[in-house]
Amino acid sequence: MPLKISIIGAGYIGLVTAACLAKDGFEVVCVEKDGAKLQLLKKGEVPFHEPGLKDLLRAGTASKKLEFTSDIEQAINVSRFFFICVGTPSLATGQADLSQVYSAVKDIYQKVKSDSIIVMKSTVPPGTGLRLIDEIWQNHKNGAKIDYVSNPEFLREGQAINDWQKPDRVVIGADNSEAAEAVKSLYKNIQAPMIITDITSAEIIKYASNAFLTMKVSYINEIANLCEVVSANIDDVSHAIGLDKRIGKSFLKAGIGWGGSCFPKDTRGLDFLSAQYGYDFHLLKASIRVNANQRLRVVHKLLQGLKSLPDKKIAVLGLAFKPETDDVRESISLDLINILLKEGAVIRAFDPIANENAKKVLPVDEKLVYAETAYEAVEGCEAIVLATEWPVFIDMDWQKIKNSMLAPFLIIDGRNCLNPRTIKEIGFNYKAIGRERDFDKNIT
Ligand code: UGA
Repeated sequence: MPLKISIIGAGYIGLVTAACLAKDGFEVVCVEKDGAKLQLLKKGEVPFHEPGLKDLLRAGTASKKLEFTSDIEQAINVSRFFFICVGTPSLATGQADLSQVYSAVKDIYQKVKSDSIIVMKSTVPPGTGLRLIDEIWQNHKNGAKIDYVSNPEFLREGQAINDWQKPDRVVIGADNSEAAEAVKSLYKNIQAPMIITDITSAEIIKYASNAFLTMKVSYINEIANLCEVVSANIDDVSHAIGLDKRIGKSFLKAGIGWGGSCFPKDTRGLDFLSAQYGYDFHLLKASIRVNANQRLRVVHKLLQGLKSLPDKKIAVLGLAFKPETDDVRESISLDLINILLKEGAVIRAFDPIANENAKKVLPVDEKLVYAETAYEAVEGCEAIVLATEWPVFIDMDWQKIKNSMLAPFLIIDGRNCLNPRTIKEIGFNYKAIGRERDFDKNIT
C-alpha cells in the first residue's frame, strides 16, 4: 500500500506542512502546478518570506524525505494521505471561492487506485466536507476506499514553523475513528491536546477561532478609541484586563486594525455563510465594521495635524500586514495609502521586505514612491504613519529622522510601538491609538 503524504498546493500552508512533516520523518511529495514556483522550490528557494522555512525545506530535500512535482498522478500513485492546501479566496460577495478545493479533490478521487485519506487543511465553510464526501461517493467508482478528514490549520505567518511544532491544539474532524486515528498518527511528535470531532464541527472551529480573535482585536481597538476621548492610556488598560486569565493577554494590542490573508477573508466567509442559513451574526458584523472604521481614524488624525491632505508629503512605514512577513494581502497600510492618495496626499512608502509585493498592488506613480530605506522615505515629509511594527522602526535614530522632516513633525504610531516620551522629547507631534495619557503619566 502506498504510504507517502501528498501535499496539494505549495503555498504558505502547503510548504510549512510539507517541510514540518518531512522533518518529522514522513515521506512527502509536494504537488505544485505553477511551473515557475516549482522550479524555484526545486532550487531550494521559497517564493515568500517565512522565518526558518527555507532551511527546513532544504533539509527535507537533502534527506530525500521531501520532493516536489507538478505531476499529480505521480504523487497519487505513491501516497495514502492527501493534504489539500490550496487557496480559498473571497468572491466579490464575501463567499469563499472553493473552486481550487473542488478541483484538487476531484483530481484525487478520479485517479486514486488504493485506499486513501483526503485531509482538508484549506479553510472551507462548515458543511463543505459533507458535500465533498457526497461528491466523492457519487463519482468515485473504482472501489478504493476514500476517507475525508477535516484538519484545520492555526498557523500564523511569521511564526508558522513554531506554531506547527507547538500548537495549542490539533483538531481532527472525521466520520469514522479509523480515519481520525490515521491522521492523528501523523502528529505523533506533537505534544498538544488532540480534539477529535465530526467534520462540520472541525470546520466551524477554524472559523470560530479566527472570528473570535478578530472580535478581540476590534474590541480592544474600540476601548482604545474610548481611552482617547476620556483621556486614558490603552497600554495600561490592555495590560490589566489581559492579566485576567479568563480574558488572556494575547490579541489585545490596539492599533489600526487587523488585516492579512485570513482574518478579512474568513470573517466575510462566516458572515456570508451565516446569512445563507438565515442567521444574522451581529457580533461578527460589528467586528468587521469596527475594523473598517479603525483605519479612518488615522486619516482624521492626519487631517487634524496637517489641516489638509492635498499635496502633503506623508511617509508610510510598514506595508506588510504585520511584521516578519512580506505578505501585503489586505494590509491596512496599503488601504490607507489608497485613501490618502485619493485625498491628494503624496506618499513615500517603505517596508523592510514587502516593497516589491506592495508595488504589484499599488504601482509607483507621481504621487507614490517607494523608498529604499526608512530614512529615505521620511525625507522632506510633514508626517509619518507607522503602520507595521517592524522592530527596525522602533530602533531607528528618531532624532536623525526629525532633522530630515518638515514641520509639523507629525507621527501617527498606528501600532502603539514607539516610546511616546522619547519621541515627544525629540520634538515630534506624537499621536497613537488610545495613548492620550502616556506622556503625562510617565512624568508624574
Ligand atoms: C491568523 C491566525 O492567528 C492563525 O491562527 C490562523 O491560522 C491564520 O490567521 C489563518 O487562518 O491562516 P495571521 O493571518 O498570520 O494568522 O496573522 P495574526 O498574527 O493572527 O494577525 C492578524 C492581524 O491582526 C494582523 O493584521 C495583526 O496586526 C492584527 N493584530 C493581531 C492586532 O491588530 N492586534 C493584536 O493584538 C493581534
